[in-house]
Amino acid sequence: MAPTLTPQTVLDALKVVRDPDLHRDIVSLGFVKDVVISGPRVAFKIQLTTPACPVKDQMREQARAAVAALPGVADVDIEMTASVRTAVDPAAGRAPVPGVRNVIAVGAGKGGVGKTTVAVNLALALARCGSRVGILDGDIYGPNVPIMLGVQAQLGSEGDKIVPAEKFGVQVVSMGFLTDDDSAVIWRGPMLHGVIQQFFRDVRWNDLDYLIVDLPPGTGDVALSLSQTVPVAGAVVVTTPQAVSVADSRRAVRMYEKLNIPTLGIIENMSYFVCSGCGRESDIFGKGGGERFAEQAAVPFLGRIPIYEPIRVGGDTGTPIVVAEPESPAARAFVAAAEQAAAQVSIASYRKPIPLTPVL
Ligand SMILES: Nc1ncnc2c1ncn2[C@@H]1O[C@H](COP(=O)(O)OP(=O)(O)OP(=O)(O)O)[C@@H](O)[C@H]1O
Ligand SMILES: [Mg+2]
Repeated sequence: MAPTLTPQTVLDALKVVRDPDLHRDIVSLGFVKDVVISGPRVAFKIQLTTPACPVKDQMREQARAAVAALPGVADVDIEMTASVRTAVDPAAGRAPVPGVRNVIAVGAGKGGVGKTTVAVNLALALARCGSRVGILDGDIYGPNVPIMLGVQAQLGSEGDKIVPAEKFGVQVVSMGFLTDDDSAVIWRGPMLHGVIQQFFRDVRWNDLDYLIVDLPPGTGDVALSLSQTVPVAGAVVVTTPQAVSVADSRRAVRMYEKLNIPTLGIIENMSYFVCSGCGRESDIFGKGGGERFAEQAAVPFLGRIPIYEPIRVGGDTGTPIVVAEPESPAARAFVAAAEQAAAQVSIASYRKPIPLTPVL
């Protein structure tokens, strides 16, 4: 006689399903919840560590197959849910940011490689996958996020807190909301540090899985302030494929290391050209630089984003490509890179916590 179907036999069967990033089975990770057996029908939830999980469908199908193979099972009903873990350990004495589970910085070794474009589209891609996302324009000197998101909104207030603007379902704070378009902002180091602190202490971020921080080009003073103010889950480093840009990125990775900001991975932007007319692809700046560099630096490669005119147009008109052309290969490339970045945050949440950089 076939063994009776119990929640335990279902859990035992599900042990064959492994999370490929965390290298453990989904049962011992505690992902399987609420197993309910009604006659030949088995229902359960799989709670992942991010809604932007790149292998979500694969895991669901493996789980379905494993349970469907049990004797007596006629129907398997799986609900995929997610609860984003923080990569910050409160036990490590680091003050977490109220309302924010994970801060992700987007930086580069040099200007103009597409940091803001990547930051904005990553934020929208994560939101599209069902995550709660905010974007903080860390470019105090030349805030571009409001233009790229097409948001001029003034910030609101609630008691003594600043309430972020919201666009495309993403919470947004930028210095651009507080200064006139044309006024040059000159910040001395301590003032800059104060502003960065305020962006965290005085802003009411509302229940965010990920807060993306768009870093300015240059010497890293904002990155330094950031690392002294909040625990940063990691940095996404944007590069272009040319050798010189890759060398600059190497310096950026080293700088973040010194600031205790782990590099979540490399995104190669303007990687290849997609003709918006005929769809043909060609490598303008050479091929594979970002991937080789990631390998050498032993950091993950998160993906490559094509040069595609509508990406630039989307930035200029305030409708980023992920929203403007969600099914385009370029938007899909951003979603794939966002999923890889989210996977790295999940991995980091199982690692030992990162210390805060001391204020000297
Ligand atoms: N993949 C892409 N395809 C087409 N245009 C792009 C792409 N990535 C970025 N751009 C365009 O390149 C320009 C520079 O991009 P962006 O402002 O994002 O760079 P940045 O690194 O943030 O610059 P800065 O260092 O000044 O902050 C923008 O006009 C943007 O629209
Ligand atoms: Mg920028």
